[in-house]
Amino acid sequence: MIIVKSPREVALIREASRVVAVALEEIKEHIVPGVSTQTLNDIIDGIVRREGAIPGELGYYGYPGSVCASVNECILHGIPSKKKILRDGDIITLDLVAKKGGYCGDAARTYPVGIVGERQKRMIAIAEECFYNAMSLVKPGVHVGDISHAIEETAKSHGCSVVREYSGHGIGRDMHEDPSILCYGTPGTGPVLRKGMTICIEPMILEGKPGVRVLGDGWTVLAKDGKLTSHYENTLVVTDEGCEILTRL
Ligand code: MF3
Ligand code: CO
Repeated sequence: MIIVKSPREVALIREASRVVAVALEEIKEHIVPGVSTQTLNDIIDGIVRREGAIPGELGYYGYPGSVCASVNECILHGIPSKKKILRDGDIITLDLVAKKGGYCGDAARTYPVGIVGERQKRMIAIAEECFYNAMSLVKPGVHVGDISHAIEETAKSHGCSVVREYSGHGIGRDMHEDPSILCYGTPGTGPVLRKGMTICIEPMILEGKPGVRVLGDGWTVLAKDGKLTSHYENTLVVTDEGCEILTRL
């Protein structure tokens, strides 16, 4: 069931989202060659708690990290580890949920590590472009399929594929609520957006062919073909005219 949020609830989602935005901004200076994804996890955990929130992913279905830290061909749910050391030229996606006052905010960014090549820069830019193309359509009356289609078409226009096994989502008390917002779809189909809905649009982009595989740890999701991946996500609220991004400073 898709729930329209009250202004009070939107205010709480806005505050949780602000915490996510602060953490994803403050962590930037720490993303350097030689740092482990565990160290990034611990810094983010500290920022989230300093802001009076808790990391929403920690313990979610048993997930062991405070953030998802996914490097290069890892597209989703990379588990932070002392053994995973970032190297010059890598790209890393940090996907973070903060919970405060009983409500969630959720966002993801793919960052360069040190000096990255054109391939890496391009992947970062494509996920962001997919997000903004999809977001520009959001307003009351639009179908979820319109948004999904925009993500897929933008990715395709660059010769990339989208992840089909995971999706964006509504957000509120739970990090994952209805509707599910796939990265591919048909215009004019699916649920209709209304003012006051809070949603996460999250293009998950594969440089190469479609297809992912999950490692034996039950979490780590990799591009099947081993090529690069990128991800860009924001929490937003549908307004009279369009939408407002909540996970941005
Ligand atoms: N933050 C992710 C999303 O964008 C969900 C992560 S699930 C977890 O929807 F269990 F890994 F935390
Ligand atoms: Co999400």
